[in-house]
Amino acid sequence: MSVPLLLVAFFVARLALGQDAPAPIAPATYVGSEVCQTCHEDLFNAILQSPHQAVNSDKKHGWDGKTCESCHGPGSKHAESASAAEIKNPAKLAPAAADRTCLQCHLNQPTHSGRIQSSHAKNQVSCTACHQIHAKGPLGLVSRKPAAINEQCASCHASAWAQFQRPYKHRLPEGAMSCVDCHNPHGSFRPSMTQTFAANEPGCFRCHTDKRGPFTFEHAAVRFESCNRCHEPHGSSNPRMLVRQEVRFVCLECHTNLPSQSTSTAARAALGVVPPAFHDLRSPRYRNCTTCHQKIHGSHVDRNLLR
Ligand code: HEC
Ligand code: HEC
Ligand code: HEC
Ligand code: HEC
Ligand code: HEC
Ligand code: HEC
Ligand code: HEC
Ligand code: HEC
Ligand code: HEC
Ligand code: HEC
Repeated sequence: MSVPLLLVAFFVARLALGQDAPAPIAPATYVGSEVCQTCHEDLFNAILQSPHQAVNSDKKHGWDGKTCESCHGPGSKHAESASAAEIKNPAKLAPAAADRTCLQCHLNQPTHSGRIQSSHAKNQVSCTACHQIHAKGPLGLVSRKPAAINEQCASCHASAWAQFQRPYKHRLPEGAMSCVDCHNPHGSFRPSMTQTFAANEPGCFRCHTDKRGPFTFEHAAVRFESCNRCHEPHGSSNPRMLVRQEVRFVCLECHTNLPSQSTSTAARAALGVVPPAFHDLRSPRYRNCTTCHQKIHGSHVDRNLLR
């Protein structure tokens, strides 16, 4: 017998011995949802109405007839004893462990890219903080109505919600838009889990396509800085959601010969040219730069963004 074959024989013998050894307490086995139904009729009926009913016919992954146990694990012991200690309840697990229950099926779906890196995952906000499987709450398994989503997000993000109470803002308080129009609650590759447009452009372009360009004459500030350099996306006290009360102060942050007050190197690098001398900055006429520089986000015809 060659050496490898000898080794194989050795391990086969070990395995056989292992089977003879006194077995540990037999683990629970799968019994099927109909067994659960006998005691949890209401939950069984509710699942039939929910999207997770799809699991019930999932022959491919072997969960057909075992929907309950796809999340709660094998339930034979619990079905006998009816003891809470013998069944997995995700609500009693650490968030990361509870998430693993869901991710065995929901991993690598497009909406979940970056999920593991998301602020929510890092801060123990589990799937079930937002999704109620047995849908007792007002929000159900997944909230789709903008008002319901906003309410859910606002329950933890009071300060973000407060910003939407300012005079100039997207119409979230009216229920016309929601936080997930701009944020992916499951995570994203952009800062602050913001939505993306096309490859890796700001999600703002999903609605404000006219600002996307490409323009013959780009305004470097729009192209290379984020929209929030000039706008407050959550709302502002200033018209057009600008970061400053008057347009000129937005512009003069960069178009000045004064050294930048900003400590960030990105901001220093973005300093623009000084407006030409005929710009009399003391005259009210020059208060609103965009009366002349109308194509502030980029122009197809004019280098100076005038039209
Ligand atoms: C013989 C009746 C019976 C059957 C069959 C049964 N359960 Fe239960 N189950 C109970 C009772 C009673 C409780 C409440 C136990 C308690 O609170 O101490 C319970 C509680 C639970 C809990 C909550 C545990 C916790 O931590 O609070 C889960 C989850 C659960 N059952 C899932 C299942 C699943 C899945 C099945 C099918 C595999 C199943 N049950 C079958 C009687 C049953
Ligand atoms: C998609 C995953 C999933 C499926 C499928 C599922 N459950 Fe649950 N179940 C949960 C989670 C998560 C909780 C914890 C409560 C919560 O966070 O909403 C839970 C809680 C429970 C509880 C505790 C009482 C309660 O309502 O909180 C019982 C009992 C239960 N499930 C039984 C069942 C039964 C019976 C089935 C099949 C008919 C089933 N579950 C199917 C995920 C699931
Ligand atoms: C055994 C596989 C499986 C597990 C485990 C599972 N799901 Fe699902 N889930 C599905 C399937 C299949 C659907 C329905 C088809 C679809 O929309 O992808 C679904 C649908 C959903 C939906 C609704 C989708 C919609 O469009 O309405 C949400 C939300 C969801 N699951 C969350 C969860 C959460 C949270 C958990 C963990 C507690 C979980 N799921 C565990 C397979 C699973
Ligand atoms: C901070 C709240 C929050 C957390 C945490 C969260 N979700 Fe969601 N989820 C949502 C919202 C809101 C939607 C609806 C998105 C929409 O309509 O665009 C959603 C949608 C879904 C959908 C439906 C498909 C889709 O993308 O529209 C699935 C499936 C889902 N979530 C699964 C999960 C799983 C699995 C986890 C944990 C790994 C999780 N979610 C964590 C809020 C959350
Ligand atoms: C259960 C509480 C809870 C809910 C519900 C919740 N969040 Fe969060 N969220 C957190 C925590 C905790 C953090 C991390 C700490 C922080 O940045 O405030 C966070 C962080 C964030 C961040 C910052 C990400 C970053 O990288 O800086 C965004 C954006 C966010 N959440 C959006 C949402 C949206 C949109 C919803 C609704 C779909 C939502 N959250 C619902 C608790 C929650
Ligand atoms: C119009 C798009 C838009 C909407 C709608 C929106 N956000 Fe944001 N949010 C942003 C952008 C862009 C940033 C990044 C700001 C930055 O990095 O300076 C951000 C940052 C955040 C942050 C992290 C920074 C901070 O301010 O703490 C949280 C948390 C957040 N948003 C929560 C929410 C919540 C909750 C809602 C819904 C009530 C919401 N956002 C709606 C665009 C939006
Ligand atoms: C889901 C679509 C949508 C997304 C995404 C979106 N917006 Fe808007 N935005 C609108 C609509 C609709 C208006 C019109 C104003 C209203 O609703 O009252 C608007 C108005 C504005 C205004 C002008 C307000 C005024 O007073 O005229 C600014 C500035 C703005 N958005 C910036 C942004 C920025 C920056 C982002 C990305 C962080 C963004 N938007 C993402 C839909 C969107
Ligand atoms: C360099 C500063 C600056 C940047 C960067 C910037 N904006 Fe603006 N934006 C302005 C000014 C100034 C106005 C007001 C124009 C006026 O007074 O008519 C404005 C107005 C708007 C308006 C409302 C009026 C209109 O033209 O539709 C929207 C929407 C808007 N911006 C979206 C965006 C989006 C989306 C981005 C990111 C791609 C962005 N802005 C980046 C300065 C900027
Ligand atoms: C974040 C910094 C920043 C802000 C804010 C900003 N700009 Fe600019 N702007 C630049 C940079 C950088 C350039 C292009 C390069 C240069 O200055 O040579 C530029 C170019 C321009 C040009 C074209 C000049 C040329 O020769 O290319 C005009 C006109 C202009 N900006 C006007 C404005 C107005 C009006 C505002 C206010 C609504 C404004 N900018 C806000 C950074 C900024
Ligand atoms: C009355 C109309 C008008 C107003 C208001 C105005 N500009 Fe101009 N601006 C112009 C014209 C015209 C040019 C082009 C000059 C040329 O062709 O050399 C110009 C050019 C510029 C340039 C490009 C300089 C260069 O060397 O390329 C910058 C930067 C600029 N303006 C900034 C501003 C800022 C910042 C404000 C607000 C404080 C402002 N402008 C207000 C008409 C105006």
